[in-house]
Amino acid sequence: MLNTINIMIDGIETKVAKGTTVLEAARDLDIHIPSLCYLKGVNHSSSCRVCVVEVGPRLIASCTLKAEEGMKIQTNTKKVREARKTSVELLLSDHDRECLSCSRSGGCELQTVSNDLNIRTVTYVGEKSSQEKDYTSPSIFRDASKCILCGRCVGACGTMQTVGAINFAKRGFDTVISTAFGRPLEESTCVNCGQCIMACPVGALTEHENINDVWNALENASKYVVVQTAPAVRVALGEEFGLPVGTRVTGKMVAALRKLGFDKVFDTNFGADLTIMEEGTELISRITSGQNLPLMTSCCPGWVKFMEHNFPDRLDNLSTCKSPHEMEGAMVKSYFAKKMGIDPKNIVVVSIMPCTAKKFEGSREELSNESMQDVDWVLTTRELAAMIKEAGIDFVNLKGETFDSPIGEGSGAAVIFGATGGVAEAALRTVFEITSGKDLETIEYTAVRGMDGIKENVIELPNGQKIRTAVVHGLGNARKLMEAMERGEKAYEFIEVMACVGGCITGGGQPIVDARTSERIDIKAERAKAIYTEDEAQTVRKSHKNPYITALYEEFLGTPNSHLAHELLHTHYVKRSKF
Ligand code: FES
Repeated sequence: MLNTINIMIDGIETKVAKGTTVLEAARDLDIHIPSLCYLKGVNHSSSCRVCVVEVGPRLIASCTLKAEEGMKIQTNTKKVREARKTSVELLLSDHDRECLSCSRSGGCELQTVSNDLNIRTVTYVGEKSSQEKDYTSPSIFRDASKCILCGRCVGACGTMQTVGAINFAKRGFDTVISTAFGRPLEESTCVNCGQCIMACPVGALTEHENINDVWNALENASKYVVVQTAPAVRVALGEEFGLPVGTRVTGKMVAALRKLGFDKVFDTNFGADLTIMEEGTELISRITSGQNLPLMTSCCPGWVKFMEHNFPDRLDNLSTCKSPHEMEGAMVKSYFAKKMGIDPKNIVVVSIMPCTAKKFEGSREELSNESMQDVDWVLTTRELAAMIKEAGIDFVNLKGETFDSPIGEGSGAAVIFGATGGVAEAALRTVFEITSGKDLETIEYTAVRGMDGIKENVIELPNGQKIRTAVVHGLGNARKLMEAMERGEKAYEFIEVMACVGGCITGGGQPIVDARTSERIDIKAERAKAIYTEDEAQTVRKSHKNPYITALYEEFLGTPNSHLAHELLHTHYVKRSKF
């Protein structure tokens, strides 16, 4: 057959498709070749040389070596093992090696490779290159002393997300990963999505940690500390405790948060339902007036900052709605505070998010009311896991508990916010019923589900109105769509964008999955499946049917998009530099 090639790996004859790399072919045969800089679909720079194999007299990096007819490959000779060891020893010589206190200890790919290669001493000792640490970003912390210059973060930021906030700079021993002109990350075009963290094999990139800030709040007797959790956290947190990918741990998570000492445990799904009420109304009104179309979702802070830097003339297209956790925070410090008779200045709102960009979002001055931030601290899923471990809680054996009321419960529509297409589907469930004025049986809009980068659909409302919809995930895809619109090739009424590929389920604050595991398990698909199962398990699956939402409008806000709703639940955006 023309499209297959015969090769031999370690004496085993095999047929592979043309274009297959030797690394892929070996893995198909369950032959383990270590790798470090290679990250499928993100980085193929073959810079670390850890994956070398012997082909004839030559040692070649297998991650970029395409199989050729008749090729004979040796993966386990003395020459190969020594070359791999030397490459890793050289990396270790310029690494800070503070493994005991590193946040990636136990999940560090350099540590794994070193152990697998039986490296027991650091052979090369000498001068170290850059030791720079950058704490300036509220979302992401960079530690150059741990960087191994593999380029995986550069691939994630540039190739995948088309943000390009970081790249290689300087030459030789002075080579570093840097922002343009070496500016602090905070002053760069970084959108805080954290996909660089997810790509980093070591501890050179992590979230800007706020664990101690939250411990301090919990220990302050004068503070009433409320926590809320985003939908995507509950389908990933279990992985930090050894549970399989896609395990739902909603009840255990709530129980753990109570044990940590939070006064109320709320579900951000309530905020998501509120977002749908406000954004759905905004969509209907923009379609009616014909202004500022298409309406683009604004729940994702990575996407919002991407727009601010790259398409500042399109900011009027973004929904003015705050994101769900910001709405929830605003309601905790107004409606809930009033109901409970608590001075909002004594309330601390903590959001547990799958996302590092939410940390930046939480600090935006536009997202405050009467000089109080809607949300005080944002922790990632990983930080929550770290707190649970620090507190000695036996997470796996916890008995499930339920969220607090009255603003703590959400619908199934809100749960699916965690996956790409979820916001659009939740909005459609509500917009369909509001425009038809009756309950509809169809509530699953599967056309907006799935992992295609850009999904397009024309949805006809019961009143005959057509809504041309696009659902996009990954900023690389978002840029493609925006550029097609700028060229006049595409037009829509409604666009949902999530900055991370797959949506919030694979956000930059979620448990990190090493490169090897992510090749074997479809993380996005497993977590998305769990999200849709969680939706199906809910009795209320439409935002406007959430009784707590109805009560909130009746008792406090009036109607969606009312004056008070605008004051507390809507925001504006900032034009930023392109460089
Ligand atoms: Fe192949 Fe780095 S050169 S994994």
